[in-house]
Order: sequence, then C-alpha cells, then structure tokens
Amino acid sequence: MIVQVALGARAYPIHIQAGLLGNAAPVLGPFVRGNRLVVVTDSQVAALYLDRLSAGLSGVLIEPIILPPGEATKDWVHLQLVVERLLTLGVERSDAVVALGGGVIGDLTGFACSILRRGCRFVQVPTTLLAQVDSSVGGKTAINAAAGKNLVGAFHQPAAVLIDPQVLATLPARELRAGYAEVVKYGLINDADFFAWCEANGAAVLAGDTAAQTYAIAHGCKAKAAVVAADERETDDIRALLNLGHTFGHAFEAAAGFSDRLLHGEAVALGMALAHRFSAHRGLCSAEDAARVDAHLAASGFEIHPAVLGLATNAADLIHHMRQDKKMSGGTLPFILSRRLGESFVARDVPLGAVEAFLADELADVKRP
Ligand code: NAD
Ligand code: GLY
Repeated sequence: MIVQVALGARAYPIHIQAGLLGNAAPVLGPFVRGNRLVVVTDSQVAALYLDRLSAGLSGVLIEPIILPPGEATKDWVHLQLVVERLLTLGVERSDAVVALGGGVIGDLTGFACSILRRGCRFVQVPTTLLAQVDSSVGGKTAINAAAGKNLVGAFHQPAAVLIDPQVLATLPARELRAGYAEVVKYGLINDADFFAWCEANGAAVLAGDTAAQTYAIAHGCKAKAAVVAADERETDDIRALLNLGHTFGHAFEAAAGFSDRLLHGEAVALGMALAHRFSAHRGLCSAEDAARVDAHLAASGFEIHPAVLGLATNAADLIHHMRQDKKMSGGTLPFILSRRLGESFVARDVPLGAVEAFLADELADVKRP
C-alpha cells in the first residue's frame, strides 16, 4: 500500500508492506548514488536488520553510521558526529540518507539532514510502532537540549517512508505497547469509529498479529498524512490535535526524568486518560466517554492513574514542567481536550490553577487500583 503525503513540491509516498525491508530495491533504488547508500541506525537495530536491508539491495554498498540506542543519542554530540561523518563520506545535497530505526534515529538523522549543506534528502525506514505511525511522517526533526526535549530542530520532510510491519516482531512488548498509544490517539482526535476498531482489535495488535498491525499502521499514516497536508507547520489548530495527551504526559515524563520509568508512549496514554477525565471534570465531555477511554487504555496494559506511578512529584512541580513547554505563549498553554469521544479540540483558555487542582486530586487518590 502507498499513502501519499500531499505537500506539493515536498510531497512523498509512505510505502507499507510486510516484508518490504528485505525487498527494498524498488523503493530505495532511486535514492542510491554511485552504488552507495548511507544508513544511520542504532546498534540494536543494526544487529537485527542491516543485513536484511542489504540483502534486498544487491550490488549496493551500505555505508552504516551506527549510534548507541536510546534517547540520550538525540543530543549535540551525536548530531555533530553524524554531520561530520556525512561530510567525510561526501554526502551531497541531492543525495539521500536512510534513517533505519525508531523515533530517536529518525529525529536525529532528519535534523542532521536538514542542516547538512543547508539541507539534503533523507528516507525514513521506521522500525518501532511509534515511529511507523507517528514520528517518521510529517517532518518534525529534533535533538534534545539541556532545557528540555526536542527544543532544537527543524521541519524537514523525508523524501519517502518505507514501513515493514514485520520488524515489529522483535520489538520488546513494552515498546510495542508504548507505540500503540499513538495508534489510539488517532481515534480519540477525530475518529470514533477507529477508536471502536481499537477496542475490538487492540489486543491483536499488541499480540503481534501482522494483519492487525498493518491495518493500524496504514490507518495511522493516512490520518497523519491528512493532518500534515492540512497544517504542515502546526499553525492552524489542526496539527496541534496530535498533541492530545502530550501536555499532561510531558509533565509526568519530566517528573520521571525522561527515563525508562515512563516511556514517551506510556506518558501519552496517561496524558490522554487525564485529558479526558479533566474534560469530564469541566463538563466538556461526558463521564461515560472518559470512562470508555480509561477502560481501553487500562485493558491495553497502560497505567492511567498517576497516583500509583510512585513518582516523587506534586501538582505544583507538574505545572512547573508544563510551563517549560515550547507551546507556552503569553503565559497560557494550549490543552487538547475532548467534547465527546473522537472529537478533540484545542482549548486556549484553561486556567493553569484549575489544572493544578485537578492534578492534586489525581495524585492524592491512592485508593485507585
Ligand atoms: P527509540 O528510537 O529509542 O526505539 C526504542 C528502542 O527500540 C531502542 O532501544 C531501539 O534500539 C529499539 N528498536 C527499534 N526498532 C526495533 C525493532 N524492530 N526490534 C527490536 N528493537 C528495536 O524510541 P521510539 O519510541 O521509536 O521513539 C521515541 C522518540 O521519538 C522520542 O525521542 C520522541 O521525542 C520522538 N518522537 C518524534 C515524533 C515526531 O513527530 N518527530 C513523534 C513522536 C515521538
Ligand atoms: N507527533 C506530533 C506531530 O507530528 O505533530
């Protein structure tokens, strides 16, 4: 299947097919220059998939740049390392670099390519569910700074995206579930029917059913492509909806020190539950809708109650973390809230005091299971 991201001169295809990584020549062939392809990846993904990629590209010399796995790689040191290596390899503006890995490799490689010789092309080959349904599409690239996550970056669209759902077979179950949060997000933003599909098929996605995973990925890519085509730079309150769960979630990620205690997708799931409970609390959506969101996320194995996470934090600290958000503007923060299940909207008039009181109640509620 091919999903098009309709961005005029910067339009690109997303190729989705089980087994595609080992048969990548039709997609990647046009990006090979002088029989060579530069591939940025991490050591875990390299050990699993570099040979498979190479086997499908006979006669092509793969030049790998192999980085350590993990969020810490999205930093200045590894950005410099990648850029210097690309320059040493003589990568030119018209060349394309392949990013093979999860969101860390995709974000870092995309940013390196956005600044290399004022911008060269790159191809996303995402290998985590999170990257396949979200980060590989849309052109947000970044590294982290001392002041926070993703604070240094650029919008730089890939030239193509190649997705092979079969690679999810080796992804640790916790990482697969974290990526599933971003799948559910598409239902909660504007597609109640897809949320119902998730309720019926989420267990199959998490159990490794390739057909269910492929459907979820294709649906997510179509949804994201539509959003990005309508609001590439997040200026019209359309792309901002993709931040559902992120403002609440980010505060808990920060409280966990952006560590393995709470993966990004786990924080997004918690944040989506909180955004719906807060919406119900303010009379915006029904308590039944919020309970349905809670039920599916909990059934999928997510922790939806911050009181039982055991993080050493409090509501004031969480609000402090929210204030560092790059979307803070004029002393207020946009929250993505819900009118009803599958109908999210950007609320710009939410008093942070009300959020703080809500979070204080949530954190005090240790009676929850
Ligand atoms: P990740 O890239 O760190 O990958 C998670 C782990 O899985 C790594 O250890 C990696 O080596 C391993 N791995 C990857 N593919 C594998 C496979 N097929 N089999 C076995 N192991 C595999 O994490 P992620 O969750 O993919 O991405 C998180 C990053 O994405 C964060 O930095 C976040 O900020 C970013 N992000 C960006 C966007 C965007 O729009 N650009 C959107 C969401 C998240
Ligand atoms: N992941 C949010 C966005 O791409 O806008």
